[in-house]
Amino acid sequence: MKIAIASDHGGFEMKQALIEYFSKKGLALQDLGTHDTCSVDYPDYADKMADYILSGRADLGILICGTGVGISIAANRHKGIRAALLYNKFVAAKAKEHNNANIIVFGGRTMSIPEVIEYCEIFLKSTYEGGRHQQRLDKMDKGE
Ligand code: RB5
Repeated sequence: MKIAIASDHGGFEMKQALIEYFSKKGLALQDLGTHDTCSVDYPDYADKMADYILSGRADLGILICGTGVGISIAANRHKGIRAALLYNKFVAAKAKEHNNANIIVFGGRTMSIPEVIEYCEIFLKSTYEGGRHQQRLDKMDKGE
């Protein structure tokens, strides 16, 4: 599985921690920036990630801003993107099982690195259930 990761300055530290965590597990995340703690605009990173996912260059994206809210809103403006803010273990499973999220989102200033790692692992081992959930996803992607 190809996983890309991006953040604004509010998520930079957490992004680096996740890159290191997955690297130790033998999985190299594609780092789309930002590359330091200088202030940047989260929509730029959400847009970059959406392009990456929609063009098939990555199967899953991880986005981080200070709260996870702004970068979720920005990513979900893109048709075909299902960005889910994983804020507990139940949601981490359901975001895959029911929503088939293609981007998972975290708050660098509101969540701890260990809990975020746990949510990533839960999401990654969960399976999309399809069926009635697919008709709901289809409704979001129809029309202009
Ligand atoms: C940046 O200061 C902050 O607004 C951003 O990281 C995020 O929390 C927005 O939702």
